[in-house]
Amino acid sequence: PVLVVDFGAQYAQLIARRVREASVYSEIVPHTITADEIRAKDPIGIVLSGGPSSVYEPGAPSLDPGILELGVPTLGICYGFQVMAQQLGGEVAHTGHREYGSTAATVRVDDGNALLGGQPEHQTVWMSHGDSVAVAPEGFDVLASTATTPVAAFANDEQGFYGVQWHPEVKHSPYGQDVIENFLHKAAGIPADWNPDNVIAEQVERIRAQVGSARVISALSGGVDSAVSTALVHEAVGDQLTAVFVDHGLLRKGEREQVQQDYVAATGVRLVTIDAADTFLAALAGVTDPEEKRKIIGREFIRAFEQAERDLVAEAAASGEKVQFLVQGTLYPDVVESGGGTGTANIKSHHNVGGLPEDLQFELVEPLRTLFKDEVRAIGRELGLPEAIVGRQPFPGPGLGIRIVGEVTRDRLELLREADAIARAELTAAGLDGEIWQCPVVLLADVRSVGVQGDGRTYGHPIVLRPVSSEDAMTADWTRLPYDVLAKISNRITNEVREVNRVVLDVTSKPPGTIEWE
Ligand code: XMP
Repeated sequence: PVLVVDFGAQYAQLIARRVREASVYSEIVPHTITADEIRAKDPIGIVLSGGPSSVYEPGAPSLDPGILELGVPTLGICYGFQVMAQQLGGEVAHTGHREYGSTAATVRVDDGNALLGGQPEHQTVWMSHGDSVAVAPEGFDVLASTATTPVAAFANDEQGFYGVQWHPEVKHSPYGQDVIENFLHKAAGIPADWNPDNVIAEQVERIRAQVGSARVISALSGGVDSAVSTALVHEAVGDQLTAVFVDHGLLRKGEREQVQQDYVAATGVRLVTIDAADTFLAALAGVTDPEEKRKIIGREFIRAFEQAERDLVAEAAASGEKVQFLVQGTLYPDVVESGGGTGTANIKSHHNVGGLPEDLQFELVEPLRTLFKDEVRAIGRELGLPEAIVGRQPFPGPGLGIRIVGEVTRDRLELLREADAIARAELTAAGLDGEIWQCPVVLLADVRSVGVQGDGRTYGHPIVLRPVSSEDAMTADWTRLPYDVLAKISNRITNEVREVNRVVLDVTSKPPGTIEWE
């Protein structure tokens, strides 16, 4: 792999993704890793990430100096660039000038250097730093500078060391991906040969080795991660796998059919559907508090799943077999963020509603543990899964249950399902799916307002549209949808959905608003 050494900011994941976009497999490791540990991973390249610290600060994150003696081609970015400069005998200083945001850099391209060769001589790059490299280490060529940063990039081709002060991994650096690809392919000579095909072949082999002839259970939710992890395991072990789909009655229009018909047709997976809507609705009766709803939905999900599990275990036992494994769609960011073997602090505590029991008697099969979401989608497409599932926007485990402000009832779910289907259909028809991270459609069930329809006065409920743009759901902005699309959605919802006489648009960013209303 290419190892991305994480100096503590959130850039490491982005770098790892960009490396993979260059068709090279990457893994994130903490900056506390030793040279021996790195050697054991047999890397073909190393990227040192940016970070929030100053190299002078006492206790600033450092790097085992042995790492730069391993003979592995290395690219330093921002803080990583400064650490590299300092360890190799250059000089890092407070220049007194800070650069944040877009900065024009002059890039020296005339020497045909592998890192920046062929790029425009003047370009805008994304900078975020207080310290600067004042003097490059001996034997290094300075490749770029800005008005206040004399050494903005350097290279030592002989040793395979490269560095840039700016952030090539962010989209605000228009030639950033070129810098990363130049480092990988030209400077380090790493071939672009990591792709969905290879990942599938490799995972199938691993799954077979792990599972042997035992039986496996998987929980399908209709979401991308469970759909792809289940399909991978099915590809590997066929009918040793049974997928369980709990219909909690809080799904959107068409989602059950997508799983039961389209997904099954595409994969041939053996599917057990559990109809639990009545149980969930009974448990939710009279409940309005959002957290309470989440707890109830989570608890009922586990109960329903455990029942299915017991049935499958009994069925297997009757034919002398054993259910030994459970599939989970854990993704790489979850692994990294929960500190999984990387030493990175826990950035985000995960919503785990709709999750699985904690006291599992099964071993886990987690074929997506090394993958990012966009890679999971690519693999799903390669496996021939329906686009409606693979391209699906995030949808919370508690489903429409947390998009009805007020008590959840069958009638209200019916209203919301219709309104949501209209909004989704119109957004898709307008070609806006790519711009939107997700668009919760919310029913304010406890609010009524006066309206007029035909000759009559109405007293109905508002529907809220909450279209947001985001990179990772941690922060978000409301999406500026075209007025004509909003008008069409509003017209259709107020005309076609009974008891809804008003459509309103949520124009709040996150923070301060969360994406969901509950
Ligand atoms: P918020 O509303 O916290 O949502 O801004 C951030 C992202 O998480 C999703 N979300 C959930 N997902 N169970 C889930 O599986 C939950 O309880 C839950 N609550 C929010 C939300 O849709 C958004 O993508």
